Amino acid sequence: MMDSNGVNSDDSHSDSHTDQRQESICQKLPTVEVDEQQERQHFYHIVNCFRSYKLNGFCRVSKAYHYLNSLNDRHKQMLTTYKTHLENISKCIEHNFTIIELIIEDISSLFENIDYTTASNVTHEDNIDFKTFKRQPALDSDKVNSVFKQLVREWTDEGYNERRTCFEPILNEIEEYFNYNDDRSSVHVLVPGAGLGRLPFEIAKRGFTCQGNEYSLFMLITSNFILNKCKDKYIHTFYPWAQHFTNNVRSADQLTAVRFPDINPSDLTPNTDFSMAAGNFTEIYTEANSWDCVATTFFIDTASNVVEYIDTIWKILKPGSIWVNIGPLLWHNSAEFSDNDSLEPSYEIIREIIVEIGFEMIKEMTNVSSYYTQNPHSMLAYEYRSVFFVCKKPIS
Ligand SMILES: C[S@@+](CC[C@H](N)C(=O)[O-])C[C@H]1O[C@@H](n2cnc3c(N)ncnc32)[C@H](O)[C@@H]1O
Repeated sequence: MMDSNGVNSDDSHSDSHTDQRQESICQKLPTVEVDEQQERQHFYHIVNCFRSYKLNGFCRVSKAYHYLNSLNDRHKQMLTTYKTHLENISKCIEHNFTIIELIIEDISSLFENIDYTTASNVTHEDNIDFKTFKRQPALDSDKVNSVFKQLVREWTDEGYNERRTCFEPILNEIEEYFNYNDDRSSVHVLVPGAGLGRLPFEIAKRGFTCQGNEYSLFMLITSNFILNKCKDKYIHTFYPWAQHFTNNVRSADQLTAVRFPDINPSDLTPNTDFSMAAGNFTEIYTEANSWDCVATTFFIDTASNVVEYIDTIWKILKPGSIWVNIGPLLWHNSAEFSDNDSLEPSYEIIREIIVEIGFEMIKEMTNVSSYYTQNPHSMLAYEYRSVFFVCKKPIS
């Protein structure tokens, strides 16, 4: 459970094992003023995107099915195996939907300070309530497929290689830098843009106090399910690539079953201080000199104005503390992908700004091979040549 501090209204893109952890997941953050009714409608929209997954998935398959059935008998005959394949995809979609139902089953307790599943005092004729199912456009519910890919990256054996290239360098750096400190719990680490929470979980598992921050409700709802409802490893199976219709070598690749989580998310020692906080990073973290480390992976390019991110990180870090970053610069708000305003500076310019603000660059590497939500079987693969850096806010 976490506080809602105004989650991403754009969204483009716990109970636990121990009472101790439940307490930490309920950590309070300063509440930011938000338009409650707008937030509420956004919440219902996202829930309905999850709920629309099966219908939209079936429509996608039945379109191919109908086209196939319209072909001449000879072609139909030759495509018998493909027809069976489409039926198998439908079965995978059906199964995935049972996982989605689990994910959205218990979201009344998602936020500590608000329950969007109960009726609102404010009503508006256009608005829907939690119980109303309103089918969402395929483009919107397709984001559930992106959540599945993120789930593979963070919480499955298949995602190990991505975590090795993106999370391990951060974890090693944190352990090395704070090596002098015997009391790891006194080291407070913040992970903005934490996705489904695996990196903050791993940091907390190593004994540090850690908070993950996210503003996407797709991510928050799913991480709530993993972190608070999955009490053992490999308890669920899903078909993350069921709706990946392109670049498959073998039909079976599209139907690959993947188990999650690869580790028991409740497996944290008592007294571990681990929490997730909902909201826009630059809006909710305003207290100066409050963190020992900020860790970012594949995050800084989500900014419209990256200087605002750097300013925030500078402000909230204590003197003598560090910012560890790994990732590329695939600007999320670039005109290529959105209508939002965006700055799209090179790393060279970002580096100048980091130094100008006052950070001391203590480690830096370019060309670091890393991967993001890849389908390991696909004929298409992206490799990022990321930048990795550690910079320090000097003591004075
Ligand atoms: C590319 S994903 C990376 C996720 C994770 N760090 C990883 O490496 O797998 C970026 C994440 O940052 C989140 N995000 C983007 N802007 C944010 C903001 N201003 N505040 C909090 N989260 C944000 C997005 O919702 C998304 O989950």
